Amino acid sequence: MSIGIDKLGFYTPKNYIDIVELAEARDVEPGKFTIGIGQDKQAVPNPYEDVVTMAAEAANQILTEDNKKDIELVIVGTESSIDESKSSSTFLMDLLDLPNEVRAFEIKQACYGATAGLQMAKDFIATHPGKKALVIASDIAKYGIKTAGEVTQGAGAIAMLVSENPQIVELEDKSVYLTKNVGDFWRPTFSKTAFARGKYSNEIYMDFFKTLFDNYNQKFDQDVENIDTLLFHIPYTKMGRKALNTIESDVSEEKFNDLVERYQKSIEISRSVGNLYTGSLYLGLLSYLINGDVKDNESLMMFSYGSGAVGEIYSAKVVSGFEKAIDIEGIKNMLDSRKKISISEYETIFNTEYKNYDVVNIDTVEGEFYLSEITENERLYSRISK
Ligand code: COA
Repeated sequence: MSIGIDKLGFYTPKNYIDIVELAEARDVEPGKFTIGIGQDKQAVPNPYEDVVTMAAEAANQILTEDNKKDIELVIVGTESSIDESKSSSTFLMDLLDLPNEVRAFEIKQACYGATAGLQMAKDFIATHPGKKALVIASDIAKYGIKTAGEVTQGAGAIAMLVSENPQIVELEDKSVYLTKNVGDFWRPTFSKTAFARGKYSNEIYMDFFKTLFDNYNQKFDQDVENIDTLLFHIPYTKMGRKALNTIESDVSEEKFNDLVERYQKSIEISRSVGNLYTGSLYLGLLSYLINGDVKDNESLMMFSYGSGAVGEIYSAKVVSGFEKAIDIEGIKNMLDSRKKISISEYETIFNTEYKNYDVVNIDTVEGEFYLSEITENERLYSRISK
């Protein structure tokens, strides 16, 4: 039975900042941010947006009424959750009008969460033929104003409908994984922003990639020259490129140049959105499918990494005709119609937070799903009907 990603939706907030303007405001040479880090724009979520509203926006793009009837598993992967107890998935029942006869929960392991969800969904479909699973990666990457990590912030959600006979990508059974207790990145429950040993996290990322790459090739007897495309978790676009460089001596020059060319296609959207945390690998997949020169039945090696740390490399195959199952025009329009805001506007939004008994003014809402009020410390959500 072939199982995989049948539909792929993507949402990113309507506002963004220009990375050169951020560099100028922080008195940094712009080349450090645009070349050294590899970013152009950074998404800025409105205060009424969070992982629930972004997850709803991404999933709403792809679900038909028929799809909803078959869904029996809903997983949201996030590391910027809004509740320590109640999962984001439960809010989606009402917002997306999903059937109640589902298993729904949230999953956390830094930027690895969506991959854990996807692999779990694959196993679920294998034992529940004919059913579908909804896996959503939704995150707001927040390091804080004037921190070293500020340039690697971003926000957005990726929704994946997982089913038998998928239209976009088939998930294979070949996978290697690794877990180590590492202090490279953490966000204690009291803090809205992450703490990171930035350079150390880069080292661990690369170490995990190289170890998993070697383990995968050995375990599945893979000739590295036969790899079509390598996709990476992209906290910032230079990061994956640094990891790719570690295998330069393992492959021919021609193969390496081809892998680099394909990598460049996978980072196009990330350059203009920023860090999606657990959605980043899947934003890279989407970007590659939209912008890349994808071959028939092309094989993908997917590197997922979540600080703390868990990593996995698994293989997948692109399904021919995949482009018909992705709303390419809709995604391009969403990106092109965003609004640039100034660095001071971004700082104001960054520091704005709704409090208990606040009610959001609907006239300020730009998306379809939003946090409408907080009452007795309970966050309540609404949908603007179109
Ligand atoms: N033009 C071009 N490149 C420049 C430059 C310029 N004017 N000035 C500096 N650079 C390059 C540096 O040489 C460096 O490249 P290298 O990494 O290939 O050596 C790069 O820009 C970054 O500079 P650096 O001094 O290392 O940046 P930093 O101390 O501000 O930290 C991070 C960068 C990524 C560590 C920091 O943003 C961070 O902590 N991010 C959060 C953690 C994270 O994203 N981890 C990823 C793994 S999950």
